[in-house]
Amino acid sequence: MIVSPSLLSADFGNLNRDLEMINNSEAQMLHIDIMDGVFVPNISFGFPVLEYVKKTCKKPLDVHLMIVEPQKFIKEVKDCGAEIMNVHYETCTHLHRVIQQIKAAGMKAGVTLNPATPVCVLRDIICELDLVLLMSVNPGFGGQKFIPHTLNKVRELRTLIKETGSNALIEVDGGVNDKTGAELRDAGADILVAGNYVFKAENPLEAIQSLYIL
Ligand code: DX5
Ligand code: ZN
Repeated sequence: MIVSPSLLSADFGNLNRDLEMINNSEAQMLHIDIMDGVFVPNISFGFPVLEYVKKTCKKPLDVHLMIVEPQKFIKEVKDCGAEIMNVHYETCTHLHRVIQQIKAAGMKAGVTLNPATPVCVLRDIICELDLVLLMSVNPGFGGQKFIPHTLNKVRELRTLIKETGSNALIEVDGGVNDKTGAELRDAGADILVAGNYVFKAENPLEAIQSLYIL
């Protein structure tokens, strides 16, 4: 299993310590949540923080933009060292164009779906995608409860990927822990994002490992 701890739940007063922990862990990437207070009812952090993370973190950055008009920031996201740029389906009128622009900038392209957005909207774009990020909570906050219907969406997405021959990976974000993680693995998820489960754990390295070895 690929594990992508979510920086949103880190202790920003001890950011160096938390990034060192990530560097020494089995996590294969670091998930970065950027919020604008418009698309989601919260604001997280922006590019100056990301610049610092890029310098300190040795793992690839998996950036999740919870902002309107994400196409305006493709260059900034790339310059901050992102390997993957995830945009929300709900924020992109011209999704196909945005995906091409992300790839032209040299990043992997991901599309994120809110809990109420059905998987079927991806049918005509799935072959262009490197990954699909399914939200298993309503985006905006860490520490929320996993929405069980996500398991059906993972299965449905796995079927769509098979039918179309797409290479997209399936990533799931929100309320992930060892129990929901095991259910997601069985349903067909490739990447688990985990915020509170990792950073609020007594032993974050062990928490990461428990997802890694699922
Ligand atoms: C929520 C974010 C998540 C969040 C997950 O909007 O996209 O990445 O950090 O946090 P947990 O794992 O605590 O639900
Ligand atoms: Zn996220």
